[in-house]
Amino acid sequence: MARLKVVTVVGARPQFIKAAAVTPELRRFADEILVHTGQHYDRELSAAFFEELGLPEPDVNLGVGSGSHGVQTGAMLCRLDPLLARERPDWVLVYGDTNSTLAGALAAAKLGIPVAHVEAGLRSYNRAMPEEQNRVLVDHLAARLYCPSEAARENLRREGITDGVRVVGDVLDDALALVPDRPEVVAELGLERGGYYLATVHRQENTDRPERLRGILQGLSALDAPVVLPLHPRTARRMAELGLKPPGRSIRIVPPQPYGATLTLVRHSRAVLTDSGGLQREAGALGIPCYVLRDETEWGELVASGRAVLVGAEPDRIVAAVRAGAARGRPGAGRGAAARVVRDLVGVAHA
Ligand code: UD1
Repeated sequence: MARLKVVTVVGARPQFIKAAAVTPELRRFADEILVHTGQHYDRELSAAFFEELGLPEPDVNLGVGSGSHGVQTGAMLCRLDPLLARERPDWVLVYGDTNSTLAGALAAAKLGIPVAHVEAGLRSYNRAMPEEQNRVLVDHLAARLYCPSEAARENLRREGITDGVRVVGDVLDDALALVPDRPEVVAELGLERGGYYLATVHRQENTDRPERLRGILQGLSALDAPVVLPLHPRTARRMAELGLKPPGRSIRIVPPQPYGATLTLVRHSRAVLTDSGGLQREAGALGIPCYVLRDETEWGELVASGRAVLVGAEPDRIVAAVRAGAARGRPGAGRGAAARVVRDLVGVAHA
């Protein structure tokens, strides 16, 4: 039986984590060409993750860098098209909902190469979000759709997508096992275990609307314990442009953290406050309460089960929800999604 040829397209921090869970399994059965679009390029958002997670060096880096969504996605398409035309893989594998996901799927579909999408079927139903646009478009282009949950499968069914849909679980649950706990990180940041909150803010809807960014910082600074805030470069730049400084002294701003340190900070926190999809799930899987700094989430199951609570960006609402202990952490990880993705992809190719 000939080995499969798969081009995997990644580009942003969360995709390196997901690929680190899938790639070792995939390479047992397939020849993988790992393509990095270059969407994330700072060491702390990119190379540091490859090293820490043992992800093989990308075979190709397209070096697109930052830009408006259209320019960035277009640059990726221009560079992916000749590469895919030359390599002619059996599959193009993409993860999640970033511009790199869309470019990988669209470039492949235009060449008639089948697309496999990991994290299919998620919907926030907010079409103003670039990530929601990417999710919907990629799911409508994909031939194999790997859903983390039955709810995601149901979202696809409502859009008329039923062929090639598989519920496999969440590959991030597999990634949790790739890095050891590093409890010393907590003390190094001058924090006590169980005595702080972990917060992150990087979504465009929060960073590009000053009233939301200001409201979130106000809310965080009014909590009853210190808040550690690893800052995405986009958020740092917006805060500098707006002259925004967190009020009071309880917010500790630190650079973006490596994966192991982030999981450690989640594990030992009182609660997580975030607009990141990945962190919502990591908190959920590790049994830590999560407050979502958005008005809707594509991870509705976490809200339905009480693990996560939507708190938006108004300070009073954020503080009241945390004070009331509105979110209830309960461990819920189930491993094996990465192996299920690979088994299915190999099976369908050889069927
Ligand atoms: C992207 C994804 C988002 C994902 C996030 C993970 C899209 C539409 N969004 O958002 O879904 O949750 O990655 O982190 O694809 N920048 C740097 N250094 C870098 C990369 C970016 O300073 O290495 C700055 C640049 O100013 C850039 C801005 O961050 O303009 C935004 O970067 P971009 O890749 O467009 O989106 P993210 O906000 O990172």
